[in-house]
Amino acid sequence: MKEVKLAGQMVPAIGIGTWHMGDDPTKEDQEIQAIRAGLDAGAKVVDTAEMYGDGNSETLVGQALAPYQRSEIYLISKVLPNNASQAQMEAHLDASLQRLQTDYLDLYLYHWRGNIPLAETIAELDRLKQTGKIRAWGVSNFDVPDLEELWQLPTGKNVAANENLYNLETRGIEFNLTDWQAEHELPLIAYSPVGGQHNELHTTMLINPVVQEIAAQHQVSPHEILLAWTIHAGNTIAIPQSSQVKHVAANVKAAEIELTPTELKQLDREYPSPDHRVPLAVN
Ligand SMILES: NC(=O)c1ccc[n+]([C@@H]2O[C@H](COP(=O)([O-])OP(=O)(O)OC[C@H]3O[C@@H](n4cnc5c(N)ncnc54)[C@H](OP(=O)(O)O)[C@@H]3O)[C@@H](O)[C@H]2O)c1
Repeated sequence: MKEVKLAGQMVPAIGIGTWHMGDDPTKEDQEIQAIRAGLDAGAKVVDTAEMYGDGNSETLVGQALAPYQRSEIYLISKVLPNNASQAQMEAHLDASLQRLQTDYLDLYLYHWRGNIPLAETIAELDRLKQTGKIRAWGVSNFDVPDLEELWQLPTGKNVAANENLYNLETRGIEFNLTDWQAEHELPLIAYSPVGGQHNELHTTMLINPVVQEIAAQHQVSPHEILLAWTIHAGNTIAIPQSSQVKHVAANVKAAEIELTPTELKQLDREYPSPDHRVPLAVN
């Protein structure tokens, strides 16, 4: 199973996304079983945020993780831009920890840039790291200029990861961001790796005949091929979301699929890497 070093810890390269989970009480049991199926299949990283369902996702994740040893999980949550101030962040972190039934996060991400000065947000994230309530902090939806600005801040180089939209059909960050992150040894956490929920990104990759043919050759689903592709270059963790036990378990096992150089070339022909700068994609 492919692994990536995240803030000094080796973790499997496929984790578990949880956006929109916990919103519908009739689906709660199924969603809890889905998260547990992912952990039982070998996943460690679980990604949530205070934004998701206004805390519903964190509450569900807390219930799902309750029977597990805390040290078996790499738990990520995120602070909203408006709450990322020196005055407010710790109270929001405490509320996340309470919903998650834990006393620390492995990684706390600044969800996206807002109006609070970056220096203030980063100083506060770094201070919270000193308290032990978070083991590491990172950013999300940051492009190269944002990372360069971050790098100039006194504790900016303590950033542990950048979480961005990345999949076979949305490769804009390959123009310069993925190289920047590789050079600076900053792992990428790839969100919407199979194209987002209910295909809200209007991607075609799941119905692409080449993707389907490669999936048939490996005797897996197109989703699993897309996940194997997302992590193939290394330094990248994909966090697919699914509420179906069998999908989550299969997704985690996709970290074992090796795409051949020929298959990678075929996929490049269908969805080429960009040859010009593309605005950062967000979902
Ligand atoms: N930092 C950010 O700004 C940001 C933004 C967006 C998302 N995220 C994080 O990234 C996670 C993943 O992104 P996402 O939720 O947007 O999209 P995604 O994981 O690309 O797609 C989720 C959809 O794919 C389906 N799916 C997943 N695996 C499948 C499989 N093996 N077979 C069939 N269908 C499958 C799921 O349906 P089923 O339930 O039916 O399987 C679900 O509808 C989120 O949950 C969240 O944790 C972060």
